[in-house]
Amino acid sequence: MAVSQTFTMIKPDAVRNGYIGSILADIQAGGFRIVAMKFTRLSAQKAGEFYAVHKERPFYGELVAFMSSGPIVAAILEKENAVEDFRQLIGATDPSKAEPGTIRAKYATSIGENAVHGSDSDENARIEGAFHFAGVEIHR
Ligand code: RTP
Ligand code: MG
Repeated sequence: MAVSQTFTMIKPDAVRNGYIGSILADIQAGGFRIVAMKFTRLSAQKAGEFYAVHKERPFYGELVAFMSSGPIVAAILEKENAVEDFRQLIGATDPSKAEPGTIRAKYATSIGENAVHGSDSDENARIEGAFHFAGVEIHR
């Protein structure tokens, strides 16, 4: 199977709770190679753009406020079957339903504040990576 990429963010709750190091360790232990990474913060406007697909959902306002509430770690990850394997590693959106041992089961607090983002398709991984990183910031 071919090597592919996914995009992730360590969300503001996990940064606040001191889990950057543990989550990066889990990501690397899962066989993912970091090809781009930055510690940054989304404005409400940028968070709204990033999650624009959820604009009509009842939780959109809360999601935008949360995602702009503090710094995040954004990264592009490389692995065979990256998108699907990363969704396995992070577990279900609702941490109470996430498989034991997954990143959300270990580090998330609620369905809204769920520690990490993971792209849901190869196409979105490309779009989301390009949203956060210029070509010169990606080191394959
Ligand atoms: P993500 O995009 O962040 O990786 O999460 P996901 O695919 O597992 O879930 P998605 O349906 O794309 O939802 C995006 C994010 O919105 C928040 N959310 N809150 N209060 C709620 O019912 C609710 N539902 C979703 C979560 O932060 C979720 O990760
Ligand atoms: Mg999603």
